[in-house]
Amino acid sequence: MIEKKITSTFRELDDAAELPATLQSLLLKAKEAIEDAYAPYSSFRVGAAALLENGIVVKGSNQENASSPVGICAERVTLSAVSAMYPGIAVVAIAISARPGNHTLTEPVAPCGICRQAIIEYEERFSKPIQLILQGESGKIAWLENTTMLLPLAFRRESLKR
Ligand code: THU
Repeated sequence: MIEKKITSTFRELDDAAELPATLQSLLLKAKEAIEDAYAPYSSFRVGAAALLENGIVVKGSNQENASSPVGICAERVTLSAVSAMYPGIAVVAIAISARPGNHTLTEPVAPCGICRQAIIEYEERFSKPIQLILQGESGKIAWLENTTMLLPLAFRRESLKR
């Protein structure tokens, strides 16, 4: 038996000014996208913004439904919009922010497990890492080089090969 260790590293920033300019504006776009959220059930509004390799930015937000499983997270709304509007173009970064209805969020928000799986598939399809920039309404920023490290031992499409 051998023991294997999985490690993940990310950068924690005190201020958005420490990010490259393109990622600073991507984070602002994610915050803008919060305004488009439809979250009457949870009141937890999430905004995401994807930077494509051609420089285009696509925004998305969570869209809830009276039948709760029908609701879609901001990250997957965004990726679906990207693949519908810009098929074949890789995503290089996604910024995510959120605003809950009942408190001020000062910690970064990380994508849920389903969204991690969806983002990783996009990384694999285009053989390009997708950086993540995560922030609450204010406070520290988490900056990750890729999304794969957020889901160790992920289920991968190679497993489906015969
Ligand atoms: N939500 C997202 O949009 N992204 C995530 O990664 C986590 C959760 C949404 C889903 C739901 O509309 C609300 O936040 C509360 O869970």
